[in-house]
Amino acid sequence: MYSHSERWKKAQELEKVYWQKDFFRDSEYKELIFKYADLFKQIEQKYNFSEDTTVLDLGCGATCPSTLFSKGKRFGVDPIVSGYLEKDRQKLDGVIQLSEGTGEEIPFEDGYFDVVLCRNALDHMDNIDNVMKEIDRVLKPSGIVILSIYTYSPFIAFLKKASELVPMLRNIEHPFTFTPPQFRRFCAATFDILDEIIVFEGKSSIDYGKQDVELSEPLSHKIFSWINRYLFMNRWFLREMLITCRKQK
Ligand SMILES: C[S@@+](CC[C@H](N)C(=O)[O-])C[C@H]1O[C@@H](n2cnc3c(N)ncnc32)[C@H](O)[C@@H]1O
Repeated sequence: MYSHSERWKKAQELEKVYWQKDFFRDSEYKELIFKYADLFKQIEQKYNFSEDTTVLDLGCGATCPSTLFSKGKRFGVDPIVSGYLEKDRQKLDGVIQLSEGTGEEIPFEDGYFDVVLCRNALDHMDNIDNVMKEIDRVLKPSGIVILSIYTYSPFIAFLKKASELVPMLRNIEHPFTFTPPQFRRFCAATFDILDEIIVFEGKSSIDYGKQDVELSEPLSHKIFSWINRYLFMNRWFLREMLITCRKQK
């Protein structure tokens, strides 16, 4: 049985509170529609989804991005399912079957899924090497993996990784940071990459594609954004990257 770290447990307490706030959940859902409604239609066509396609939505949150697919038997796994608001659970009832669990120990048998989707959740997890092994285990032969995550420009990724070394500066909910090439290599270590898309590109630390949210950038972040743009000549701060892969033979 996998034993989670204290840091992860603390982060998940915060995550539970987050999903219980209507405002945040509604805004996250609008963001998903803005970024993924059309893209998921293309993906389900390209990979021939049918009503029988079994789809795991790993780290689904209360938004459950897989509900934007029009087809498939959808299953959501998240550690805080029991903390979702009753009205959210009712809305998802009949659309997606939810189970409490983690990516480090996916509560399904080997080879159960045609597709595993994991959007904006990998960098929240505790042991991502374990998670990749688990995704591989629950996939059918030739199964499809759709992994989407925020990646950062090399300078910003360097700052994020450096801040991990100082307990006070750690971003408790995001232990992992990738640049786009690092994320590509991470995926390629377990799966065969089929396709890669930049879903969204942000220019500053408050430009994540959030909908209906007014954010202001703290001075320190403004300085980092400025250095990133004008000294390192990066036109972008973050890229939300979606990589589609196939299980290796
Ligand atoms: C930012 S939310 C994203 C939710 C949803 N995927 C979306 O795109 O809106 C990250 C989710 O990852 C979940 N999570 C964190 N650690 C996890 C783990 N070890 N295994 C599975 N899910 C995890 C959290 O509970 C949370 O719901």
